[in-house]
Amino acid sequence: MKRRKPQILPIRIYGDKTLRKVAVPVKEITPELKDFIEDLILTMYETDGVGLAAPQVGNSVRIFVVDAFWFQEDGKKDPVVLINPEFIEFEGQIEHEEGCLSLPEIYEKVVRAEKVKIKGLNENWEEVQYEADELFSRALQHEYDHLDGILFIDKIPKLKRIFLKKKLRELESSTDRNGVNKGKQMHHTHGEL
Ligand code: NI
Repeated sequence: MKRRKPQILPIRIYGDKTLRKVAVPVKEITPELKDFIEDLILTMYETDGVGLAAPQVGNSVRIFVVDAFWFQEDGKKDPVVLINPEFIEFEGQIEHEEGCLSLPEIYEKVVRAEKVKIKGLNENWEEVQYEADELFSRALQHEYDHLDGILFIDKIPKLKRIFLKKKLRELESSTDRNGVNKGKQMHHTHGEL
């Protein structure tokens, strides 16, 4: 079978209802799903992201992709695909600034586990496991949250969220009647997730 060329998918922006849904587990891998995963990977790279979850492109399934190293100097592209992921271990705590492709131009410090161990399935339906720290660990936790309808702004102090109200309302304003917000498609440079 001839595979189709991967395509860039529009990123859903804050206000889109898919971003707030709990995504459903994947039951089996299909050619269509493999194509979708390729689209997800391409979209992550084309938007200069280091992670992208399926709900961020309007598909409420438990899949995300992460590549925490590709934009580093001499970093080559090596995407991690996780289907139905589950954390096995959390260790330590660390605060760091985060950004999200679905929340353009918002950056806030978020406390997360320092190190994590995660397992799941890859695009070939094989069990995979990763141990992660630094940006890789943060990206895994951020993307996992997307599968539960959680955004990083939910994890910042209330006062900081109040300061963001106007900006969030602006982002929300391009949501249509069906709850779809394809907003302004941006090119990012900060390693958004
Ligand atoms: Ni995000």
